[in-house]
Parts: sequence; C-alpha cells; structure tokens
Amino acid sequence: MCGIFGYIGSKKTAPSIVLGGLKSLEYRGYDSWGVASVVYDGNSKFQAPSTKQVPSVNMQNEMSDSGQAEMTSIVVKKRVGKIGSATVDDIPSSSLAIGHTRWATHGGVTEINSHPHMDCTGDIAIIHNGIVENYSELKETLKSQGHTFVSETDSEIIAHLIEQYAKTENFSDAFSHAFENLVGFNAVIAVYAKERMIMAVRNGSPLVLGFGDNEQFLASDASALLPYTREVYFLHDREIVKLNDSDIQMYDAKTKSSVALLPTHIEWSQASAEKNGFPTFMLKEINEQPDMIEGIIAADHDGHKKLASMIKEARGTYLVACGSAFYAATAGSYLFSKVAKRHINTAVGSEFSYDEDFVTDKSLIIALSQSGETMDTLEAIRTAKKHGAKTAAIVNAIGSSVEREVDFSLAIGAGPEKAVASTKAVTGKISHLLLLSHILADRYEEGIDVLKKTKQSIMSVLTPKIDTMINAVADTLVDQKHIYVIGRGLSYPAALETALKIKEISYIHAEGFAAGELKHGVIALIEPGTPCIA
Ligand code: F6R
Repeated sequence: MCGIFGYIGSKKTAPSIVLGGLKSLEYRGYDSWGVASVVYDGNSKFQAPSTKQVPSVNMQNEMSDSGQAEMTSIVVKKRVGKIGSATVDDIPSSSLAIGHTRWATHGGVTEINSHPHMDCTGDIAIIHNGIVENYSELKETLKSQGHTFVSETDSEIIAHLIEQYAKTENFSDAFSHAFENLVGFNAVIAVYAKERMIMAVRNGSPLVLGFGDNEQFLASDASALLPYTREVYFLHDREIVKLNDSDIQMYDAKTKSSVALLPTHIEWSQASAEKNGFPTFMLKEINEQPDMIEGIIAADHDGHKKLASMIKEARGTYLVACGSAFYAATAGSYLFSKVAKRHINTAVGSEFSYDEDFVTDKSLIIALSQSGETMDTLEAIRTAKKHGAKTAAIVNAIGSSVEREVDFSLAIGAGPEKAVASTKAVTGKISHLLLLSHILADRYEEGIDVLKKTKQSIMSVLTPKIDTMINAVADTLVDQKHIYVIGRGLSYPAALETALKIKEISYIHAEGFAAGELKHGVIALIEPGTPCIA
C-alpha cells in the first residue's frame, strides 16, 4: 500500500515534516517517493534538483499576511528507491506540503511515474493511493480536451481532471466533481497553490486527519501522526476535507452536507510505533505478544460478555476474515467447538457472498481484522447488513472502517502493527476468541488461566537460546524450493499460518495441510529431502 502524508500549518518546515511522515510509513514498502511543497516569494523560481523530471513551477500573484503580493509555486522533488538519508533541505522553507511513497502498479518505477503528479498549469499537485479503474477512458477524454500527460500512471489523470473542472468551477467543487468520476477504491490529496488549499477524500483506501496546534496533518495511517498529535479523525468513505490556513471543513462528497469533526483520541504511544532497538518491526511485534496478552487478561471483559451473548442469541454465527486473520478465525472455530460445544461457521472475506443465501436477520457475522480496512472483509460485513444480520468485529485499528461499520466491536489491543506480515494481531485475535469460547462455556476463570499459561509459553519461546535454535533450522531450510507444513486440530490453522509466513517473509514456496490430508495427493510431490514441518 502506498503511503500518504500531508501538512498545512504554522511551521515553515513542511517539506521535512512530510518527509519524516513518509519515513514512518516506510514499513509498508515502496519503490519511489516524492514531496510537493507550496513555496512563496523569490522561492517560486526555485527548482529542486532532479535527475529526470524538471519540477513544475508556476508563479501566481498572491497576497501575503503583510498584504504584499507574493509569488506562489509548487516545487516537486521525486526519487526512485528508498528515502534512506535523503533530505528535502534543497526545497525552500514552506508551510504546506504533501508527500507519497509509491508501490508501482500502473507504469514502471521511475521518477516521472512517482507522485506527486501535476496538472498542465502546475497549480495543482495530487497524491493518490488506490487504483483509478476507469483511467484509460478518462485519459482519452482529457487528451482530446488538450491535456498533456507526462507519466504512465492512472493517478496523473486526477490532477488533469480537477484542472479541467476548475476551468468553470471553484477548486473545491472541481475536486469533488473529479472524485465523482473516479471508479475504484481511492484516497486522494490535492494541493492548490493559488489558494493555498489542501483537499482530501477517500473511498476504500484509508485516510486520517490529525489535529495539531495551528497545524493539520493527513496520513494514510494514524501511527504516522503520533509524533504530532493523538487527536485524529478517520475519514469515512466519500467524505471530503478542505484545509487552509484558517479553516477546516468536512462534507459529504455527494450531498455537500457538512460533517461534524469529532476527534478520536489515539491511546497508542509514540514509542509503540517505533522499533525500540529491534532490527525490524516484525521482530519487535513478535516480542510484544506477552505484554499484549497481559493487556487482554487485565482488561475489563464486559465486551467479551456482550459478544458472547450476541453469539448465544444468534441463529448462525460466521467468523469472517482474510489471510492470517482467517487462520485465526479457523483456530476460533476449533476453540468454539472444543470448549463451548458450539458450531461456528468460518468464511474467507472474498468468499462470503457465496454463503449469503444462508444469512438472515438472525445471523451474526463477526469480522476479524488488524487494519480494519481489508476490503473483502468490509464487503462481507456490508453483505451481511443487506440481509439484516447483526455484525460485530474483533479489530485492532480503532476508528477503522470495520470498527465503524459493525454494530459492536471488541478492540484487539495489540498496539500498532507496522510489519506487513501480521504477527501479534493474529495471536491477539486467537486470545480473544479463546476467552470468548470459555465465557460461552461458563468457564471464564479457566479462560483467564489458559491466557496466563499462553503468555508464559510464548515467553519461554522468545529466548536467546530458542532464537539460536530457530536460526539453525532456518539455515537448513534457506535454499529449499518447497516446504510442507502439517498439523491437526488447532495445529492445522497454525500450519496454514506457518506456510503463509514462510511464503511472505522468505519467498520460499510453502504449503500448509491438515496432517491427514498429506496422503491424499500432496504426497506425490514429496521427494527424499523435502522438508516437512509438523
Ligand atoms: C499475513 C497478513 C495478511 C493479513 C490479511 C488480513 O501476514 O498480514 O494475510 O492477515 O491481509 O488483514 P487484516 O487483519 O488487516 O484484515
């Protein structure tokens, strides 16, 4: 997923604030990055040195605070590769900037294809997360209207589309009008140099507004805002925010009716979003599991009791999730059957619609999600709601779409999970399901005891001695082409999860199976020396 960061405020260091924001979003992975900054006065003639693309510079007359006419321009700096020790010291000081880290989808990894993208006049710069599915039709129309494109991206059409509408409409109307024409899941931020304005909107891709002191921020992930503010607003789909130096307005893209800006307070500390001495976020997050489980034990369990009663009342409960979260759901279904003697269905988010004929207003759908933004999981919730079903979630990201859209939610309480591969959040989901199954079986105290033992077991694995053993095993596997992982009962979802993690992190082909299934076909691929983890 691309990273997005924007700043408008009283500080004159907007480009480096934005660069810092992009650095904190690096964990998502990216192949290129860029920053656009609205600069004034003599700076408008400035061009940030770039290997290929000449930054767009456009001068406009604008009144400064002192009432003197100033020149306004957008300076863009883009680079391929990692930010590393790069700075934006070569961009003049400014108090309005946006930045983006890109994972190439449409068009190769080049400076020209990286964001921000400009319109033809150079007054508008945009950054974009998502895919504009109808970009080729829009591009053809815009070309016939005289627009010149420099990149191969779908994103660049957004800048030109806004420019086209801005010929006859004010900038904010042109921005909403352009958004209405985009098909697909997108988050877009645009700056308009002439009026020193930032506009932003989302549909499907996450976007968070952060409230500072005489300054506002926008980011694709709330954890990037922690160094500046804990007061945030998670934009809902189709909400537009308009920011300038003196005002924040939020309204619905279609109806234009204004939306109350009620901030959510994020409890996460800044330290929780940093590596804290670990070489990677993944290792740090694996090591946070014991504390996370302690947090679940110590929390009040009214929410679990409420969810347990929802399960009791429902006629048919589904656990719905994707990827690792789905394996946590599978583990949950085993726990519900073993501990609570209850049959709970599971469905992969993207497959849930094939079960929708079984969903009624008596059904309960429980979504499991770390990010709360996984589109297939969200779609499953929406499908369930269409049938009048009750919806609940066990979700980590507070304020996320999943959390907002369900009737009832339980927080996983894992803190920020920055590594792409989910670790502590998976353990967190299973821990909550474990407690729930015990509550359903009227064995609450025993559930707490099992969690305490779980914490101890995890701690006994997270030791330097076991690290050495794991590294030795990894050395024997590193050159393998295929690895098989098997397990029965609760170890079956663990086998699926193990195989997924090996694929995701080591790029080695791995398959997880119910142990009994190995002989039903898979065995054909097993040769002497093929590693099999049981
Ligand atoms: C695997 C992984 C993914 C996620 C899946 C669901 O390591 O991270 O399989 O588990 O994309 O994500 P959430 O839990 O955010 O809905």
